[in-house]
Amino acid sequence: MKLNEKQLQDFQKKFGNILNERDIITDHDTIAPHLVDWVGNISGSSALMLTPRNSEQVSKILRVCHEETIAVVPQGGNTGSVASGIPNGEIILSLEKMNNIISIIPEDYSITVESGCILSQVQDAAQEASRFFPLSIGSEGSCTIGGNISTNAGGISVLKYGNMRDLVLGLEVVLADGRIMNNLKRLRKDNSGYATKHMFMGAEGTLGVITAACLRLFPKIENKVTAFASLSNLDATIQLLETLKSFSGELLSSYELIPKIGLDIALKYGDELVSPISDPQEWNVIIEYSDTKNNDNANDSLEYALGNAIEKGLVCNAAIASSLSQAQNIWKIRKAIVEHQPKLGGEIKHDCSVPVSSVPEFIRSTTQKLIDYLPDVRPVPYGHIGDGNIHFNVCPPSNYDPDTFKQNTEEIREIVYGNANSFGGSFAAEHGVGQIKKKQMLNYKDEVELQLMKDLKNLLDPKNILNPGKIF
Ligand code: LAC
Ligand code: ZN
Repeated sequence: MKLNEKQLQDFQKKFGNILNERDIITDHDTIAPHLVDWVGNISGSSALMLTPRNSEQVSKILRVCHEETIAVVPQGGNTGSVASGIPNGEIILSLEKMNNIISIIPEDYSITVESGCILSQVQDAAQEASRFFPLSIGSEGSCTIGGNISTNAGGISVLKYGNMRDLVLGLEVVLADGRIMNNLKRLRKDNSGYATKHMFMGAEGTLGVITAACLRLFPKIENKVTAFASLSNLDATIQLLETLKSFSGELLSSYELIPKIGLDIALKYGDELVSPISDPQEWNVIIEYSDTKNNDNANDSLEYALGNAIEKGLVCNAAIASSLSQAQNIWKIRKAIVEHQPKLGGEIKHDCSVPVSSVPEFIRSTTQKLIDYLPDVRPVPYGHIGDGNIHFNVCPPSNYDPDTFKQNTEEIREIVYGNANSFGGSFAAEHGVGQIKKKQMLNYKDEVELQLMKDLKNLLDPKNILNPGKIF
């Protein structure tokens, strides 16, 4: 849907009855950053962006859109990586101005927020109330809670606290026809029928527009201990995880795979980073323990478990950070891998999951299949293996032409996602489907489940005005 001058004026008039003039944006430079996906490979177009300030306004906007069959693309911080929030001519419905913390009730361990709140704003508000909001992802300084819920975001703390949907107690959602569903309850138990709120989580804005959420809080974390461990082989990654869980599972909050090639990238291109240990091996992990007690408990527990793993031959060498700057260095290595991987001549990104116990075999067999396809290709599988989520990124052989490498994208994606599927895994672990995994939806999603999703879409959005062309 491209707008001509007359349509644009017409829209401005329609929405002028609902929004202030400054919340109806047509200036191209203001809209431009909302048209490009974070990864940068996909860009879109839109001539109009609406920035409502409350759910009543969202409701009125959608009522007009529903009556007149005008499509909108809901958008939060635009930090996604599957182009789910990128419009293809539709109006952008940005929730960025709905960014108030509505209430925080420490006794209930809950916080209620508007969906345009930035994730770090919610983390900070929880901290000020001596509570903890555990979702932690790279974009936490700019992503929004609405986007986190719509994509069911994951991140580095999922193995202890779950995905975003596990952190949601209640939702307010504006439906496609403008009705407001008020489920903003701070209840831990509510079996009054279907759990309808879960339909909107992970739906990527295709079923309704999330305008507010009540979120779960946890006791404040007083002590974090971070370690970097080099493992004797790939299988030891999961054996070490098991060891840590059996000794101190309640403390383990992150378990991230760092392959040697990833560490090398971070040390080469990152800003003043140092290797946490002197002789890193092929497979390494970052381990984090989080404790509500401010004493030596977490440190001692981790030291004990790592000692045991060294005795068992799982770990070759490990370092527990003894200062905040050492811990930050370890996490900066993790971030630098994400940032600097493209410098290896390009990268093809993947976000997949397999059962935790299958992680080593999945990495081995995918690597073999990739090498069979393109000798000397450089896989960089890293990330959240504690919950079975691997970012199986693939870089070209050294000195390979980046454009030629790009031409292999579809085949390489098929190798990685096809193999994940054969392990009973998922082609979309924590980033969603958006525009870039629609083919995999057709190839790998259970047929009946896919049809049920389409039936739900038809029921909730019969005119297909909410984020059309996304997911399927
Ligand atoms: C990460 C993002 C890409 O974990 O999900 O690095
Ligand atoms: Zn991730």
